[in-house]
Amino acid sequence: MSDPSQKTAIVTGANTGIGFETAAGMAEAGWHVVMACRSEAKAADAKARLLKRLPAAKLDVMLVDLGDFASVRAFAQEYRDRVGALDVLINNAGLLLYSKQTNDAGVELQFATNHLGHFLLTALLIDLMPDHEASRIVALSSVAHKGARIHFPDLTCGGNGLVAYGQSKLACLLFADELNRRLVAAGRSVRALAVHPGGSDSNLFGEMGRAQYYVLKTLSPFFTHSNASAAQPALYAALSEDAAGGGYYGPTGTMELRGPVGVARRDPITQDKAVAERLWAVSEELTGQAFMSEGAS
Ligand SMILES: NC(=O)c1ccc[n+]([C@@H]2O[C@H](COP(=O)([O-])OP(=O)(O)OC[C@H]3O[C@@H](n4cnc5c(N)ncnc54)[C@H](OP(=O)(O)O)[C@@H]3O)[C@@H](O)[C@H]2O)c1
Repeated sequence: MSDPSQKTAIVTGANTGIGFETAAGMAEAGWHVVMACRSEAKAADAKARLLKRLPAAKLDVMLVDLGDFASVRAFAQEYRDRVGALDVLINNAGLLLYSKQTNDAGVELQFATNHLGHFLLTALLIDLMPDHEASRIVALSSVAHKGARIHFPDLTCGGNGLVAYGQSKLACLLFADELNRRLVAAGRSVRALAVHPGGSDSNLFGEMGRAQYYVLKTLSPFFTHSNASAAQPALYAALSEDAAGGGYYGPTGTMELRGPVGVARRDPITQDKAVAERLWAVSEELTGQAFMSEGAS
């Protein structure tokens, strides 16, 4: 890879958990990192913590609420004005809900935040990325995509938050696959990839019932890994010359919850091109953003 000090990455949800460690990994590799976060106070605190660890890190904070499409548009405009160059986009931010919640546009909140906000962000910034295979768009999926489906007639999944989480993580994986396919068809060298982090003890499970949460906290050291380890698949996808466009990477140990990074296992639904194409059309409709129609760049 060429001089990392000239390269810029956006990491969404960089103030905590896996996103924080991903931002740290990119900064440690010498990159300028834009921490795209929704809370100014949390982002400032995270930047201070990161600078304490890596005093030479080149960091900027910019605010975005990925569940709010107007906020994503404002972020993209501000990013173009303030930074104007982009080499890697790591679409990491996510939330896991146990109840039915929607955004202001009435869209199920996990689908809106985990998938649609990133779909829109990518659409609004992709033209800034040099046409080179070191330019990467990385989606954070999950083992929870397995067994999930996109519930097109009812994206709230009947109000079942956990089912909607699986749906949103399947959407992240299908989006990366379809984006890569469209990039290749358009003759572009930018790569889109998906990863999953395995399991880590982050803030993701904060909405869980207290009894369940206590059990998870007690048992998690035995089957999960640290947020720093969980960030390795995203760092691999962002930085490794071996990471292939359209690839899906994650930990290869027991139940794919931890272990060395390698090719991850997919649900067979991810081979269904019709589902990915329908998801793309629905994503354009719900965000109001046309994006890379077939054969165009
Ligand atoms: N941890 C795991 O075991 C696991 C497993 C599979 C997949 N994942 C995926 O890994 C990614 C990172 O999750 P994590 O485990 O690190 O969780 P986390 O500790 O809860 O961090 C999630 C990050 O996303 C941000 N975020 C949430 N909603 C947002 C919004 N509307 N706009 C902007 N930022 C928003 C959070 O900001 P706030 O701090 O302001 O809430 C936080 O920075 C997620 O995509 C998740 O689905 C995690």
